[in-house]
Amino acid sequence: MKIAVVGTGYVGLVSGACFAEMGVDVTCVDIDQEKIEGLKKGGIPIYEPGLKSLVTRNYEAGRLHFTTDLPSVLNDMQMVFISVGTPSDDDGTADLSQVETVANTIADHMMVPLLVVTKSTVPVGTSFRVRDLVRKRLDERGLNDLTFDVASNPEFLKEGAAVNDFMSPDRVVVGVETEHAKELMTRLYRPFLLNNFRVIFMDILSSEMTKYASNAMLATRISFMNDIANLCERVGADVNMVRRGVGSDSRIGRSFLYPGCGYGGSCFPKDIRALIKTAEDFGYEMRVIKAVEEENDRQKEILFEKLNSHFDDAIKGKNVAVWGLSFKPETDDVREAPSLTLIHSLLSAGAAVRAYDPAAMEEARHYLGDSIYYANDIYDAADGADALIVPTEWKEFRLPNWSILSKIMNTRLVIDGRNIYNREELASHGFDYRGIGQK
Ligand SMILES: NC(=O)c1ccc[n+]([C@@H]2O[C@H](COP(=O)([O-])OP(=O)(O)OC[C@H]3O[C@@H](n4cnc5c(N)ncnc54)[C@H](O)[C@@H]3O)[C@@H](O)[C@H]2O)c1
Repeated sequence: MKIAVVGTGYVGLVSGACFAEMGVDVTCVDIDQEKIEGLKKGGIPIYEPGLKSLVTRNYEAGRLHFTTDLPSVLNDMQMVFISVGTPSDDDGTADLSQVETVANTIADHMMVPLLVVTKSTVPVGTSFRVRDLVRKRLDERGLNDLTFDVASNPEFLKEGAAVNDFMSPDRVVVGVETEHAKELMTRLYRPFLLNNFRVIFMDILSSEMTKYASNAMLATRISFMNDIANLCERVGADVNMVRRGVGSDSRIGRSFLYPGCGYGGSCFPKDIRALIKTAEDFGYEMRVIKAVEEENDRQKEILFEKLNSHFDDAIKGKNVAVWGLSFKPETDDVREAPSLTLIHSLLSAGAAVRAYDPAAMEEARHYLGDSIYYANDIYDAADGADALIVPTEWKEFRLPNWSILSKIMNTRLVIDGRNIYNREELASHGFDYRGIGQK
């Protein structure tokens, strides 16, 4: 089987490498020349556990190829996956220009039957737009008899566990219009699901909708728990206990009930905005989802507010250590990360920031430039700090040496955005502790 995966980012590179691992001949295509040249030399453009060895093994085995030239490989393929970015426009609409560029290239160069699969997260109806755009152009080119199908195959991998998620998915959602598309997608995914075939076939519109509904559900759970956490603080309850009590109900379950300093990343925020916008375009107001977004925007301010209230609005001139810049652990992705909201507020209030992250320093530099000090490790970040704030729960932050920290910090204050520390333990080292949703 020969496929092309267009867009070699978090989704495209992981998908391409995982398909190749199952024996598929995969060509990963990107417009970013530097990225493609780097990949050919073994350079992995993103931090994702397990990805480097997977890419290297399959590249060396000749099953994984990289190119910037889609037209030159297109007519050697049975399927083309579109996995380019779909960022938010200013009004929240998903910007489909990257998807359309790829569709136009296919339309202009396709000479053999193809199945074009949308893997990017796209608003409901986009796969049909791709279908109509390509069909029209094929007809203009006099290729009226050329078979051309579309399918929707939204991706559910999580950054930080992307390879594992792709290799052992909970389920694979596929929207199709034809038996031919269904057969090809079944062949492609069967190796991943040999013991329990969990591909859910459906119509294309429902498949596209499933992706947004899933992300909206997860974001709702997070914002819901943040709302509960904020009330816990006010009434004197402990959200850690409440979460355990709530999550033990098998109808509810434990996952995505962790309160914190808001969700970020390249998916939830933009997908929530796009869903709200799609609803508006259809004359419908998504009230629950709008509240989820509003709650998240508020929660992203919470770490700064806790610091501000501790210092009675006198943050100017304070040195603040920030542990964690990525939007979650095990990734270098800082897009819409709560750490960025925090750091911007700190800098505007006149504080100096000393930040450390195990993987995301380089990415963060694109957003923050030289406005902060990039520390060498957690202790370097905390040196002389008036407060330590933890927006991201990387494993290496979980058991620091509090004795050392108590000596090197100027003020023993910890604001824990992910509830990873124990108040009593910190108190025994003389630290003032502020968590989320706790007294
Ligand atoms: N990152 C995730 O965790 C995740 C999870 C599920 C779904 N998604 C969705 O998958 C899609 C891709 O996300 P991502 O995080 O991989 O994006 P990304 O920004 O990491 O990668 C996109 C890639 O597409 C390339 N590209 C842009 N235009 C191109 C073109 N015309 N031809 C070839 N390549 C082109 C870019 O250079 C970039 O390398 C988005 O719709 C996103 O919402 C992402």
